[in-house]
Amino acid sequence: MNRDIDSTLEKTVQSHNLEKEILHLLKTKDEKKLFNTANETRKKYVGDEVHLRALVEFSNYCKQNCLYCGLRRDNSRVKRYRIDPQDIIELAKKAKSYGYKTIVLQSGEDSYYTVEKMARIISHIKDLDIALTLSIGEKTFEEYKAYRDAGADRYLLRIETTDENLYAKLNPGMSLKNRMRCIENIKKLGYEVGSGIIAGLPGQTLESIAKDIIYLKSIPVDMAGIGPFIYHSNTPIENIEGDFFNLSLKIMAVLRLILPDINIPATTAMETLNPNGRLIALQSGANVVMPNATETIYRRHYEIYPGKICLGDSPAHCRGCIENKIKSINRYVSSGKGFHIRQGVV
Ligand code: 5AD
Ligand code: SF4
Ligand code: FES
Repeated sequence: MNRDIDSTLEKTVQSHNLEKEILHLLKTKDEKKLFNTANETRKKYVGDEVHLRALVEFSNYCKQNCLYCGLRRDNSRVKRYRIDPQDIIELAKKAKSYGYKTIVLQSGEDSYYTVEKMARIISHIKDLDIALTLSIGEKTFEEYKAYRDAGADRYLLRIETTDENLYAKLNPGMSLKNRMRCIENIKKLGYEVGSGIIAGLPGQTLESIAKDIIYLKSIPVDMAGIGPFIYHSNTPIENIEGDFFNLSLKIMAVLRLILPDINIPATTAMETLNPNGRLIALQSGANVVMPNATETIYRRHYEIYPGKICLGDSPAHCRGCIENKIKSINRYVSSGKGFHIRQGVV
């Protein structure tokens, strides 16, 4: 059976049984049509501009132990590093000088950076008049509030999966309930909310992915990042085979159709699996790229998964490289900060 995507789409938007319609889209045999429709929707709602976010991976210490992640605390083979608060601020200045309008500060869950340290870093970066995103994990409401008061604009916290049992299995010592609470708190505090999932986790089903998409819509998120699962040999998770690049692309496309005006990144993990992954994603619904702005010496140690791109490259090189790539598909780098502009539904 190969029902027309357009009619499914119409139903999807109005449907009371959204899960069934999302599943139908995820299972479509006419993937090209799904990707093209998502591309048209992207153009209609958020245009041809691509927002760049400079990613600074400032610490690879993590107190959590997620089974899929190379930075998990039990992985003793990682050479751990932390970048000094003052040096983080310098990196942000450098990123601004390359023309970035947003800095994303990302790390494992590292208690070294106290609220006071983070607030200082945040307010100094905000003095540069650029947007600031944090991606530093689960915190208390008070901590999220302190970062927000210091000036942080956005927060990234992937839900990873909304399958409660799978979540508990893959994230020992953590709970789906708490993660959802964190995302609600981030929302309450007026951050732009970025979330998303890993596509292809062992034990994950298309049914649970459909529920993940409904969850992202229920927040509703301002940004949704989808990354394919990439097996890391220094983790206890099983290595499973599957076309998680294609799966990620489909999830991304469906998200564009369901939340047409949000920001959707073409993720680094997609380019790890396909040398053209980010450009393919940008032509299937995505409108954001997060180039690496971490100093070259640290890059290879931030090994969430193996095979990460740009390991030997400098922040300046990546900035030029990505702009050329974006121009090669007749798109252009945005000159604005790229906040989510709500435009109502389809
Ligand atoms: N493959 C793909 N993505 C991963 N992440 C963690 N481990 C992996 C992996 N093995 C993702 C998680 C996390 C983000 C920073 O990296 O979604 O939120
Ligand atoms: Fe830490 Fe995030 Fe990796 Fe989990 S996914 S181990 S919280 S860095
Ligand atoms: Fe880093 Fe192309 S984006 S080398």
